[in-house]
Amino acid sequence: MSTELPDWDSEYREQGRLEGPPPWNIGEPQPELAALAAAGKFRSDVLDAGCGVAELSLSLAADGYTVVGIDLTPTAVAAATKAAAERGLSSATFEQADITSFTGHDGQFNTIVDSTLFHSLPVEGRDGYLRSIHRAAAPGADYYVLVFATGAFPEEWVQRPNQVGEDELRAAVSKHWVIDEIRPAFVHANMPADRQQGDQPMPPHDRDEKDRMKLPAYLLSAHKA
Ligand SMILES: C[S@@+](CC[C@H](N)C(=O)[O-])C[C@H]1O[C@@H](n2cnc3c(N)ncnc32)[C@H](O)[C@@H]1O
Repeated sequence: MSTELPDWDSEYREQGRLEGPPPWNIGEPQPELAALAAAGKFRSDVLDAGCGVAELSLSLAADGYTVVGIDLTPTAVAAATKAAAERGLSSATFEQADITSFTGHDGQFNTIVDSTLFHSLPVEGRDGYLRSIHRAAAPGADYYVLVFATGAFPEEWVQRPNQVGEDELRAAVSKHWVIDEIRPAFVHANMPADRQQGDQPMPPHDRDEKDRMKLPAYLLSAHKA
């Protein structure tokens, strides 16, 4: 069963709020995905699924990749489009669509990357998402997912991402994709240590060298047969 997920557009519209930007907006790509890019694992065209304000897309475009970012929220898509124009990155384009049912781009993408989208979807939206991106993938395309692992957030929290166990992740993705690897990883987030819901505090996760919380995650690698 799904947990309560945020109203995504208001998460971005409220960026002027006291707490600052949403915790996942770290001003750069997630380090696990930046490492994949540095290792040459991405091939154009790239689909950044659930791109948000698209630091990953923008960084890939700056390195010469052709990238399409898709996100549900008009506010994030507008911010990403504006940033690409300001940085002169014409190979990054952005579209507002529901990734669980989007159309077009049939067979276009050689790499599909999911930077913390999977756990942001309702559980019942996962299959439509995996089916839709599979349709948009070229034969042999690579698929990478960075997703919160069970234990990242207290199970008792009503409002939290739909974190996954390894078997649950494998079962969902393998219906459409050939899984090559699932390994432990981290999502880095600007999350205060004292965040709590009810009387349930966050687990005592380590922090990185920039004082961001390191939340347990999986990095999944798969390909289209
Ligand atoms: C945790 S944020 C991650 C954003 C970005 N990938 C990053 O790493 O900063 C999850 C993103 O998924 C988007 N999202 C949620 N449901 C979606 C859907 N059904 N279709 C497309 N995007 C969706 C949200 O708007 C949000 O931008």
